[in-house]
Amino acid sequence: MTSIVPPKVTLLLVEDEPGLRQMLEILFRREGYAVVSAPGCRAALDAIASAPQPFPAIVTDLSMPDGSGLDVLAAAKNRSPATEVILVTAHSTMENALSAMRSGAYDFVAKPFDAQELAALVGKAIEKRAIVVENQRLKAHLSRISSTEVLGKSLAMRQVLELASRIASARTTVLITGESGTGKERVARAIHERSDRAAGPFLVVNCGALPEALMESELFGHEKGAFTGAASKSLGLFRQADGGTVLLDEVGELPLSLQVKLLRVLQERSVRPVGAAQEVPVDVRVLAATNRDVEADVASGKFRQDLYYRLNVIRLTLPPLRDRPEDVPLLAERFIRRFAAEMGKDVVGFTPDGLRALTSYRFPGNVRELENVIERAVALSASRVIGLGDLPESISGHAAAPAQRLLELPQEGLNLDDVLSEAERRLLLAALERSGGVRKRAAELLGITFRSLRYRLKKLGLGDDEEDAQESGDVES
Ligand SMILES: Nc1ncnc2c1ncn2[C@@H]1O[C@H](COP(=O)(O)OP(=O)(O)OP(=O)(O)O)[C@@H](O)[C@H]1O
Ligand SMILES: [Mg+2]
Repeated sequence: MTSIVPPKVTLLLVEDEPGLRQMLEILFRREGYAVVSAPGCRAALDAIASAPQPFPAIVTDLSMPDGSGLDVLAAAKNRSPATEVILVTAHSTMENALSAMRSGAYDFVAKPFDAQELAALVGKAIEKRAIVVENQRLKAHLSRISSTEVLGKSLAMRQVLELASRIASARTTVLITGESGTGKERVARAIHERSDRAAGPFLVVNCGALPEALMESELFGHEKGAFTGAASKSLGLFRQADGGTVLLDEVGELPLSLQVKLLRVLQERSVRPVGAAQEVPVDVRVLAATNRDVEADVASGKFRQDLYYRLNVIRLTLPPLRDRPEDVPLLAERFIRRFAAEMGKDVVGFTPDGLRALTSYRFPGNVRELENVIERAVALSASRVIGLGDLPESISGHAAAPAQRLLELPQEGLNLDDVLSEAERRLLLAALERSGGVRKRAAELLGITFRSLRYRLKKLGLGDDEEDAQESGDVES
């Protein structure tokens, strides 16, 4: 194998047969590792306990005169769960090897083995460990700068969050839809964090970002030499995320040929790396996100219906920010706190005008736009509160049109239909909020029939069949 091994990766080699031990020492040194070797179980346990850093990987014989490789495995995992252990076994002890796999060994090879194969296996184990360690580092970093908390007090967001936490630990796929910037990736992270896979990796792939040919190996990995330029083997995203969660972002962009392959992965729970003869099992939870109208893509044949059904087992629809104005102050305040701390500025809130402008703006870019607006405002603000002057023109212009002024005819005239539907929208949302989402009650508050309420909600894109189903007690599972 010609993989590039970073300097100072130290392997612990545990083998009682002097000849074999020497052979392996030479092999691994040639691969570029530093090797600590132990002639038996007890020496290995000493080495594990006294090494200044935990070993990234250990290759150990299974049965040795003074103990078992399983003890080496246990001690190594006890010192650092990230240490990967590969067992070398005689055929007669195969059963033990299988139980070793269950207690956390990375893999095993049976004697007689091919030295290159063992070297490749060690390379893979180290690669996997590097990913796990890097992921832990990133995770710690991320939670320092911002938590994965998903904020929202509007009814619509509370419903989304309630469903998200209910399904967090299931293995089911989840399709997260919503306009750009509504928080799809953030919700996906929150699901992972609240699942029993939280200790495993969370990896995101943008399905629209790579050419079709590269995408397959990016997702499923490839064998060495599988195609021109494949100088070494690659694990691929799914296997890197083993034990964790994969977010297929912009899944609506996935080319049809890969849609077939993805469907197989979801059905078989295994992947076939490019150029490989065998499928490799993977244990990955798949979340998918898109801002496209997937149903329309299914109807027009751009998205496979069978894959759609497979992904859409649970559906989370993130409402646009303009339909949940009560979330704006909450998010805005959190963003102020964050950016103020980051920039070392003493900004704590808004002027009444500033807040009014913000809450009546429609935010086509949703939460991401709000976040950017606040970042800019905190940077600009010369006082402790953000005022109209710190907000972009597109937003500060709205301050002149608070709800009660809707019925005044401005100097320059207006578009009656727009104004009326805006008034209708606001009153419908206010009634729903006050009724806690009970639409019968909301209709009463507005003096209209339930049927009329439903019609109006649909017309404004605020109601959908899912809600209809829920209200008649037919909750999806
Ligand atoms: N409910 C929320 N609470 C806190 N932060 C949020 C919330 N929703 C979104 N954000 C923040 O807004 C930004 C955009 O969110 P995210 O990247 O998850 O959106 P998205 O739906 O994946 O967008 P796109 O479709 O453009 O990829 C992120 O910085 C995210 O942290
Ligand atoms: Mg996204």
